[in-house]
Amino acid sequence: TMKRPYKIAVIAGDGIGPEVLTEGIKVLNKTAELDGSFEFQFTYFPWGCEYYLEHGKMMEEGGLEQLKAYDAIYLGAVGYPGVPDHISLWDLLLKIRKGFNQYVNIRPITLLEGAPCPLKDVSREQIDMLVIRENSEGEYAGAGDWLFKGQPNEVVLQTGIFSRIGTERIIRYAFEEARKQGRSLTSISKGNALNYSMVFWDEVFNEVAKEYPDVKTYSYLVDAAAMFFVKQPWRFEVVVTSNLFGDIITDLGAAIAGGLGLAAGANINPEREYPSMFEPIHGSAPDIAGKGIANPLASIWSASQMLDFFGHEDWGKRVLSAIERVMIEADVLTPDMGGTSSTTQVGDRVIDGIQDLN
Ligand code: NAI
Ligand code: MG
Repeated sequence: TMKRPYKIAVIAGDGIGPEVLTEGIKVLNKTAELDGSFEFQFTYFPWGCEYYLEHGKMMEEGGLEQLKAYDAIYLGAVGYPGVPDHISLWDLLLKIRKGFNQYVNIRPITLLEGAPCPLKDVSREQIDMLVIRENSEGEYAGAGDWLFKGQPNEVVLQTGIFSRIGTERIIRYAFEEARKQGRSLTSISKGNALNYSMVFWDEVFNEVAKEYPDVKTYSYLVDAAAMFFVKQPWRFEVVVTSNLFGDIITDLGAAIAGGLGLAAGANINPEREYPSMFEPIHGSAPDIAGKGIANPLASIWSASQMLDFFGHEDWGKRVLSAIERVMIEADVLTPDMGGTSSTTQVGDRVIDGIQDLN
């Protein structure tokens, strides 16, 4: 019988990117093998900073066109000493996010059993949220100017863009998700200080809320939310916020839920007109690259998000359980989690877990 093929574009990128993606790919292949109804076809694209140093660009000419044909993109990390970070970010990652209208960024912030948590007396159930970050506009729209460069009257402008379409669709997406999960939705904004953009955001949130009377809502100022993330994280279930606030708050979220070695993020084009992109949120970690000791769990978690996205939530959950089991057993962990094992050994242990849970 025909297996359903999922065509995946792999952009492993720089530093530890290729090391951690290798383990995620092993995991995806294992789920396909055990399931039997689908298979993954991986195509590798050598783009990133090392490519840039050789070719003077982050991706090939017509790169987006090439990627269009895939069902999803699996990204490692980009960033390399010698290439300015704004180039690697804008010419590859943001190009893909914008070009493919991946206007939803989903970051699960769930404290798995055994994960290192810097908060005292917090149990697994108390940190379990899904942060939905606007991923296409806001302060990261790239709108602005740099006037009178280097002169005494130098002025820079970095404008936040909040379109009605952009604001409404992310908020609506979050309401749909909250409804699906039967959980509350919290909006994080800052209407007191940002008297145009965030007043507008709050207004749209309240408008859309009327269509979802079954969803309980809360609204916090971003500074208060930052405090509650640390002091009472159980307040948050599904969270929706702007691009800039989401960037910051999800790093805080990653910190309370096990750190960079575990944090994953998905860039979603909900209409599925273009491929969505799955990635660990950590960078290329040049300090440990090439040593075979990078933690692959974040990239494996993003593989689990990919399985969810393809409608294989049962496999997505199983992968997550296998990650959790590795942390509970705690005998095979990378150095960042206090262990002495290699990237490959941790990946293999996750695969054993998936096999056993089958
Ligand atoms: P980073 O995330 O690469 O590293 C921060 C610290 O966490 C380092 O000490 C690193 O060793 C450690 N770390 C990160 N991931 C790890 C893993 N999987 N296992 C074990 N330890 C891990 O952030 P940094 O150092 O600020 O940036 C390095 C480069 O990565 C820069 O060029 C930056 O622009 C780029 N970057 C790329 C991102 C992406 O591709 N999405 C995201 C963040 C940074
Ligand atoms: Mg970030």
